[in-house]
Amino acid sequence: MSIPRKRFDTLVIGAGGGGLRAALQLSQAEANVAVVSKVFPTRSHTVAAQGGINAALANVLPDNWHWHMYDTVKGSDYLGDQDAIEYMCRAASHIVIELEHAGVPFSRLNNGKIYQRAFGGQSQDFGGEQAARTCAAADRTGHAILHTLYQQNIRAKTHFFDEFFAIDLIKDEEGYILGAVILSIETGEPYIIEAKTTLLATGGAGQIFRTNTNARINTGDGMAMALRADIPIQDMEFFQFHPTGIAGKGMLITEGARGEGGFLVNKNGERFMERYATHAKDLASRDVVSRSIAIEVREGRGCGPKGDHVLLKVDHLGADVVAKRLPGIRDTVLTFLHMDPVEKPIPVFPTAHYTMGGIPTNRYGQVVAPLGQGAEEPIPGLYAVGECACVSVHGANRLGGNSLLDIIVFGRAAGNDIIDFLKENRFHRPLDEGSVDQALSRLARWDQRGEGESVDALRQELQQTMEDYCGVFREEKVLQEGVNKVKAMEARLAAVRIQDHSSVFNTQRIEAMELENLFDVALATVTSALARQESRGAHSRVDYPERDDEHWLKHSLFYKKDHRLDFKPVRTKPLSVDSFPPKPRVY
Ligand code: FUM
Repeated sequence: MSIPRKRFDTLVIGAGGGGLRAALQLSQAEANVAVVSKVFPTRSHTVAAQGGINAALANVLPDNWHWHMYDTVKGSDYLGDQDAIEYMCRAASHIVIELEHAGVPFSRLNNGKIYQRAFGGQSQDFGGEQAARTCAAADRTGHAILHTLYQQNIRAKTHFFDEFFAIDLIKDEEGYILGAVILSIETGEPYIIEAKTTLLATGGAGQIFRTNTNARINTGDGMAMALRADIPIQDMEFFQFHPTGIAGKGMLITEGARGEGGFLVNKNGERFMERYATHAKDLASRDVVSRSIAIEVREGRGCGPKGDHVLLKVDHLGADVVAKRLPGIRDTVLTFLHMDPVEKPIPVFPTAHYTMGGIPTNRYGQVVAPLGQGAEEPIPGLYAVGECACVSVHGANRLGGNSLLDIIVFGRAAGNDIIDFLKENRFHRPLDEGSVDQALSRLARWDQRGEGESVDALRQELQQTMEDYCGVFREEKVLQEGVNKVKAMEARLAAVRIQDHSSVFNTQRIEAMELENLFDVALATVTSALARQESRGAHSRVDYPERDDEHWLKHSLFYKKDHRLDFKPVRTKPLSVDSFPPKPRVY
């Protein structure tokens, strides 16, 4: 069979905000760019980001990038790399104005400036009063940004492969990444994309958990591709549970609801966050609020017949505020709960939301390989940005509003670095046919076959297991059981049932490959969680309740081969200011 081959300067895998921001930078510099996306680009998960994007514009309250940096380092529980955090916070105001000029319809203040709301973990003056740093387009900020970036890419003539699934990277024996093998979802036909540079922007892996805020597409494809290319993934034990998912269902109710004045109550009507975070209360960082909700429920103060959730009150804000600032969450609650949040409080419980870990990169978006003793080198031709990457600006806990910022800042930075790389690497390297064959063999493994269990049943079992064995609170015995269970389930994967995939839009084979990716990421997550014997940020070990900077102020690295773990130091030195040394973290 002759497989179609196409050549580009850059292959971008994933059409969320990170991929599209990088592609735009490149197309505007006249590079020949292909974006491959398994869904139509404007359905990428960035579209679901609600509350906003952080930048110290100081439109509402005094602010500056250095306070933002302090909050982000503290929010990360000191595991974030301070050079990358400084870079991101310094760039934030500029990139938000760039977005505004590109056409993002931000909400406005009466004076015409961009509207900014308060979000969790934000402070003025290094831990003082609440800041208001999150630039918002009502509660549909990701939607506004993604559509703008897509339109700008169309204008800049970026080439899109819509509804194509990436199978695996192609690399040569010297370690250069040369593109990828992709598959048309419509026809089931593979293509070889040769590229001088490849950027992974495939998003997170929230689908490893049953209750989550993520789109069905968030199956950790880029992370799993990296693992199969012998690249470790970093800090996978740190998975963020957003405090306010719709109870039992998981859909996101933006932190912006609390930023606008909403608050949480238990079955006694008590504002319990006042006990857990005396200063920041409902706007403490997410790990703190999620744990507080879980404790309220565990100690019998949960609401509803089963006592399994708490209530988020926005009914006192008034219909006008909800209509103006939170129209999307009103729609979501009307649709999924058949009730109006203007009239009644919303039942909420923590829900899996964000993958803090990912493919290790530096602040230029280059994927880096460890050389030992803290040194690392870029993998030539390979970049990663956004939720699939770990740069690491979020460390052990991401602040709300910093994910849209991350994708835009580092999408742009990667685009700029790729432009430099392309100047020095003007020609395609010879394609490594062995590597192409290896990628194609992955496809062949998932050809039509027999009568095993369904992909869907096995995926649901994996998701339930991760929820039960690697959730908000963790401990050795339960995590070890989780590792054993996930490994045992993974062994069943090879026998799943796949029917004839020759017909148009038969997605069973793709769902099987997504499940294979989920298993890799789930195993990385639960194995890394078992190894880390401390509590830090979102990783909360009941058997090791304290943060342990002496032994654990380091990043973990998980390898696919033998499920080996390694560690590397945190980059505690910023670019131009003093470090923020670890301190007890109180809100
Ligand atoms: O709550 C939210 O609107 C989510 C924002 C984020 O994850 O940054």
